Amino acid sequence: MILKTDDQVEMMRQSALLVSKTLAEVARDLRPGVTTLAIDKRIGEFVRDHHAVPSFLHYRGYAFNSCISVNDVVVHGLPNEGELREGDIVSIDIGVILDGWHGDHAYTFSIGDPGKDVMKLINVTKESLYKGIEKAIAGNRIGDIAFAIQEHTEKKHGYGVVKELVGHGLGKNMHEDPQVPNYGKRGSGPKLKEGLVLAIEPMINMGKRDVYTEEDGWTVRTKDGKPSVHFEHDVCIRKTKADVLSDYSIIEKAEAANANLWTISRKDTKIPHEA
Ligand code: MF3
Ligand code: CO
Repeated sequence: MILKTDDQVEMMRQSALLVSKTLAEVARDLRPGVTTLAIDKRIGEFVRDHHAVPSFLHYRGYAFNSCISVNDVVVHGLPNEGELREGDIVSIDIGVILDGWHGDHAYTFSIGDPGKDVMKLINVTKESLYKGIEKAIAGNRIGDIAFAIQEHTEKKHGYGVVKELVGHGLGKNMHEDPQVPNYGKRGSGPKLKEGLVLAIEPMINMGKRDVYTEEDGWTVRTKDGKPSVHFEHDVCIRKTKADVLSDYSIIEKAEAANANLWTISRKDTKIPHEA
């Protein structure tokens, strides 16, 4: 378990913020007809324009800048020529290396209105991430984070918690110890220490928790074909409150602005200009 100095945490904040800014940038492009490959290209350009490199590219032979997971794809969706459609949900996961430090997080967007039940899955999954973060303080254990996420999603709402994939430590490497599962027992697992940076990332299914990996070796889907949601934050463990290095507020702003544009464009039946 590698602990970071305050200076190193500030460097990691810059990496995390670049991921947040990239997510906010592409949030404005999300609409029916856009391909996930076009979004991935934009992600690559934006990251490089900001003097960083996309960390997923070439990782274990991965060929894209990001993972874009639509509807029943849980994570590791491969960008492709498929167009987004109204009512889709799309989780975008981006990793960067900036000055040697990794940022890695994800956000699930909707294209127009995915319906009330799917909206609830999105909201509850995001809430569960914050419930986990509340427990991410020095002296607690990994199991406290995991338990909080599982309680809120599985116990309270009956959703399926994916067990095959977990969060992780983050630093000079994309994956460092310890692993951060989204299920577990309170008070179990490694003890959290100040300066530990974690990527906490609930992957929550509307239906059963079971998933499988496609022939391409990457795409993880729900077995029952029901939708799945993924949110991820980069956080540094502190004494009384975790320091969240990533910033959803800029993503949420872009998401809301894009949704507004949308309604207007639908009424006018013409496509709005890029701002
Ligand atoms: N964000 C993923 C994780 O935390 C990594 C994606 S795998 C990649 O494990 F190959 F796409 F990089
Ligand atoms: Co991650």
